[in-house]
Amino acid sequence: MADHEKRVAARAAAELVEDKMSVGLGTGTTVAYFVPALAARRLDVRCAVTSPHTETLARGAGLRVERFSTVDRLDIAVDGADEVAPDGWLVKGGGGAHTREKLVASAADRFVVIVDSSKLVHALRPPVPLELLAFGLASTVRRIEAIGPVRRRDAARSPDRGVIYDYLGAVDDPRRLADALCGIPGVVEHGLFPPEMVTEVVVGRGGSAERLRPGGDGR
Ligand code: 5RP
Repeated sequence: MADHEKRVAARAAAELVEDKMSVGLGTGTTVAYFVPALAARRLDVRCAVTSPHTETLARGAGLRVERFSTVDRLDIAVDGADEVAPDGWLVKGGGGAHTREKLVASAADRFVVIVDSSKLVHALRPPVPLELLAFGLASTVRRIEAIGPVRRRDAARSPDRGVIYDYLGAVDDPRRLADALCGIPGVVEHGLFPPEMVTEVVVGRGGSAERLRPGGDGR
């Protein structure tokens, strides 16, 4: 069922893309449905990708991929999420790509999140993915542990050589936690995405797609 709902959400989001747009492509299994759905529309679009895996998918589907280092804004970005809270906070980074995903989402006029219905939660819960700089890693981890427990993920480093950890403490107050994590030198990025970054969430539920704007007007 989850796979079917992911496909439904991905197809609905592909309809939001218009000719000549610049499009940010996230990472994950839901985005893996979005890429062919977008390619099938045969629009003239330019894409920025958030991972080598998505780049392979996008190029394989015939989409034009541009280096994100030369792109200063995007019309739209589309990505999955691990958790979506009712107030619009997200947890992302199940694939360890949250740093690039946050950069691409932030550059976009519209950030559209695509999920199956199992991703809607009453309140965010751990793990919250972290990308940490390898330099000074032990002292960075010690400072995070002053906030809550953290565990190194058994995963490859990010494409930017960051080390992937998971924060395992409570996420009762996401903004406070996000601020605390951002205040620790060596934390490259965390997987908490605030509602003001999210334009809308497209949820696959059964055979239909629901569009939510949990953060209000968003952008
Ligand atoms: C990768 C992500 C993904 O978007 C998130 O983990 C959801 O993945 P999926 O679509 O496979 O359920 O943040 O870093």
